[in-house]
Amino acid sequence: MPTLTFHGHATFSVETDEGVHLVVDPFFTDNPVFEGSLDEIDADFILLTHGHQDHVADAIPLAERTGATIIASYEIASYMENHGLTASPQHIGGGVQYPFGHVKMTAALHGGMVQLPNAESFTTVPGGFLVRLGSGDRLYFAGDTALLTDMQLLRGKVDVAILPIGDRFTMGPEDAVTAVDFIEPKVVIPCHYDTWPPIEQDPQAFATAVGDRARVRIMKPGDRYDV
Ligand code: NI
Ligand code: MN
Repeated sequence: MPTLTFHGHATFSVETDEGVHLVVDPFFTDNPVFEGSLDEIDADFILLTHGHQDHVADAIPLAERTGATIIASYEIASYMENHGLTASPQHIGGGVQYPFGHVKMTAALHGGMVQLPNAESFTTVPGGFLVRLGSGDRLYFAGDTALLTDMQLLRGKVDVAILPIGDRFTMGPEDAVTAVDFIEPKVVIPCHYDTWPPIEQDPQAFATAVGDRARVRIMKPGDRYDV
């Protein structure tokens, strides 16, 4: 079965049954809750939900070392290609079949600045990813987003929903519970909290609030979860 590893904040990696390594929103080196080294991270594909520093900070060094293909919005993909990296552009609502599975970029409501060197002219619509692995498992990485009524469109299409609960910059716990109501996933994994004081949250209280709507899996940085 595929394995999902949480690296802290909103950084996850997935190892598929075929041994393909996906990394979502690589933020390792300056991530205060990541324990380990960027050098230990494997990547065949790097998925970037948006351009904020806490989601893309290590994308370039990771892609340079591993040769991974970067999956991101057209604007961020263009930036990466300009830097000599391999990228697969997508955009909101569009899906692409990759060797490891299908990736559809989903809507997110958030900021569009791209915080990479000399990226001043690059802004983009932030997004999320609905990933359907070859194993059939369906993972939804919401990215940084407000609660969206569009999430109702995902109902019945998600096994594991990875949702921000940090508040201030994204949904807080209360809106994340409504997102669970909309999506009806089997499992919910909260993220984007407790990295820094402004986004401190109590994940147990979130789990209690979700109740029997879904199983809540609280992951600590470094935890692995067999999907
Ligand atoms: Ni952000
Ligand atoms: Mn963020």
